[in-house]
Amino acid sequence: MKRPILIHPDPRLKKLSTPIEDVTNELRTLANDMLSTMYDAPGIGLAAPQVGVNKRLIVLDCVKEEGATPQPVTMFNPEVIASSDELNTYEEGCLSIPDQFADVTRPTEVEVVWIDENGAAQQRVFDGLWATCVQHEIDHLNGKLFIDYLKPLRRQMITRKMQKLKRDKARA
Ligand code: NI
Repeated sequence: MKRPILIHPDPRLKKLSTPIEDVTNELRTLANDMLSTMYDAPGIGLAAPQVGVNKRLIVLDCVKEEGATPQPVTMFNPEVIASSDELNTYEEGCLSIPDQFADVTRPTEVEVVWIDENGAAQQRVFDGLWATCVQHEIDHLNGKLFIDYLKPLRRQMITRKMQKLKRDKARA
């Protein structure tokens, strides 16, 4: 089932999300809903705060080629345990900040630990788009958006555009 995606600015997008103690059926349903919402948008990642749930859960699938086999990944309590010194700049966007894109520089490779949908511990090194995406989504769990990496003026400009978008939507 699809869930509505919160649009910035929203206080729920700025909150620190809490760790998950048990992977319950309710949380598995939430993760599946988030995947449907993400694929439908379409997007390559989604964090629980973006659907108004301040829990440490993200989903991603960075396979973008048409016709390729989907590779959905569900992560409870994801944590970066190592980052490369090498940096990579990628033009990022966010489903909570529609139609706005900006260059963000992050480590090229990250090693991430998490709990999967079956409650099993996982560990993997990500690079390329996957590395960018997983770092972007984990930021959401800490109340951080990609525009927080931009200069204040640029950030304010984007925030004002989003405020206008929300006003227009509310009126429609
Ligand atoms: Ni995002």
